[in-house]
Amino acid sequence: MGERFYVTTPIYYPSDRLHIGHAYTTTVADSLARWHKFLGKDVFFLTGSDEHGQKIQRTAAERGLTPKAYVDDVVASFKELWQALNVQYDDFIRTSDERHHRAVQEVFQRIYDNGDIYKSQYEGLYCVPCETFWVESKLVEGNCPDCGRPVELVQEESYFFRMGKYADRLLQHIEDHPEFIQPETRRKEMVNFIKGGLDDLCVTRTTFDWGIPVPIAENHVIYVWFDALTNYLTAAGFPDDRQRLDKWWPADVHLVGKEIMRFHTIIWPIILMALGEKLPKTVFGHGWLLFDSDKMSKSKGNVVDPHALIAELGEDPIRYFLLREISFGQDGNFTKKALVERTNSDLANDLGNLLHRTLSMLGKYHGGAIPAPGAEETIDRELKTLAEETCQRTVELIDDLKINDALAQIWRLVGRANKYVDECAPWSLAKEESTQERLNTVMYNLFEVQRITALLVKSFIPRTGERIWEQLGIEQTLANTQFSDTAWGGLRPGTQTQKGDPIFPRIEWAEEEPDAAPEPDKAPKAAAKESAAVAPKEEEDAGIVGIEDFAKLNLVVAEVIAAESVKKADKLLKLQVDIGDEQRQIVAGIAQHYTPDQLLGRRIVIVKNLKPVKLRGELSQGMLLAATSSDGTLELVTVSDAIAPGSGVK
Ligand code: MSP
Repeated sequence: MGERFYVTTPIYYPSDRLHIGHAYTTTVADSLARWHKFLGKDVFFLTGSDEHGQKIQRTAAERGLTPKAYVDDVVASFKELWQALNVQYDDFIRTSDERHHRAVQEVFQRIYDNGDIYKSQYEGLYCVPCETFWVESKLVEGNCPDCGRPVELVQEESYFFRMGKYADRLLQHIEDHPEFIQPETRRKEMVNFIKGGLDDLCVTRTTFDWGIPVPIAENHVIYVWFDALTNYLTAAGFPDDRQRLDKWWPADVHLVGKEIMRFHTIIWPIILMALGEKLPKTVFGHGWLLFDSDKMSKSKGNVVDPHALIAELGEDPIRYFLLREISFGQDGNFTKKALVERTNSDLANDLGNLLHRTLSMLGKYHGGAIPAPGAEETIDRELKTLAEETCQRTVELIDDLKINDALAQIWRLVGRANKYVDECAPWSLAKEESTQERLNTVMYNLFEVQRITALLVKSFIPRTGERIWEQLGIEQTLANTQFSDTAWGGLRPGTQTQKGDPIFPRIEWAEEEPDAAPEPDKAPKAAAKESAAVAPKEEEDAGIVGIEDFAKLNLVVAEVIAAESVKKADKLLKLQVDIGDEQRQIVAGIAQHYTPDQLLGRRIVIVKNLKPVKLRGELSQGMLLAATSSDGTLELVTVSDAIAPGSGVK
């Protein structure tokens, strides 16, 4: 059997619906799982729900439900969210599962039998929202140091776990395995915490009953964190399936938020030591997603609902933003504006536009079929080398859990390919018979880079990978590809591409940003003012401009490839036009003169360098030319099919 990879998310409390902060960890885990599958490994990706404890029992009671009825409903919403985010876990563990009860009771029993659990009396403080015991000296202004909420005094008979006994062994393990706690800053924090002394941990409760019964004592339930942490072993086969456990345990990575590092790097490894099981290879503590620089949380009322965002933008912009924008390990701000900007720049402009413009060119020059490449020039070798380096670097960066850096690296390749288009100017090569072979090489290389890019991004933005793949028209299904397929030259000449809609239309946002879009009538006024500065007074008065003024306008031929009406605007039509090396959207006041169908395929003339404006919320990137007679008849300025889109008009 080959290599295997076991990755986990925390199991989430069903105390409420999940927000975008929770989606963050799970998106990372899903991407890692997909990536390691792509590397050819046998992968196990586990997520789930942490259903017991005082907090859940209280929340259910407040809503007049039994804990089980309440959690069943919330857990169903977790699964819906993961589906909407295109998260493909291998197992979803619920701590209310029967298999988990047995595992937790067995862990408790074994540790008790070893003499590391003993009975005593607990008297101290407890934070219910965090399900954490505290000593007075650790409180901040009398409140929980983690969440800032009031703590409660608890007095009850309890069983204790001898954690202190294992402190030195744990410190030694941390020192011997630098990869165990990541990133480095968290490792230091944890080491200091352990060196400050470890108290024995209270591991049972008696004042409520929504939990796993303690096997050796009536009326006691197992402390929710002791129960929850064990989920990682349960799903791997503990205690009954030793063969399965030997295959999957220890986990490769537990991904957790920084505030629950203590549980995962102190309590959890000590439970495992007491049990005689191996410790996980890495616990990675990531930062928080902040909203206006504050932690997003239900109690602060600043949560972002992922469902609404997915419904509006699709899951990939969100996945991409979370993975690319936030340095994995550090806190990062979430704003819709930043999400839209990222999507427009990286997905719509860089990635989407590259695909669309190159497919348009290939359609024109080669009937959409991938040509066989000819002789290689230096610029081609550079592109190819960058593609090869990008594949290798991505493997290394993901191994180091530097996901945002890996995506930045992949986008350097996309950026290089866009520049390669401009440098090689396929539209010029297409004009001469003598440069056909060169054109073939350039087009092949461009599509080969995009094939490799689809392979590299499919673990992070899976649907996008699929959509690129579909438009490339490659027969082999993307799901069956492996990392070895990224080797240069895998694209078969003759492959018939399938040009479709742009994979990421630009998202419009300027509306909510008053300064971002100029008023529709501002641009012409500004232009008139500028020409006044150079034209003599009389000419200006007569409305005469110099050739240098006319030359400022870039007029080109555009082919209408799509047209539709604009909602709530009976005069406007929205057109998608091909101007040779790119596609643009133009909004024009011609709906009362043309139906959308009448425009398809027409070659019109547009002002290419007019400042973009928004009309009724739709972005217009240019203006079309039309003549209007005194009776109001309007006709577009058109040219015949003999003039290619992109041709200049003077
Ligand atoms: N049930 C425990 C985990 C038990 S694991 C054995 C728990 N659940 S939780 O639902 O409160 O949080 C789960 C995870 O979500 C934590 O890793 C936490 O850091 C993460 N996040 C919650 N809010 C977050 C942000 N605003 N940003 C990033 N992560 C967020 O703790």
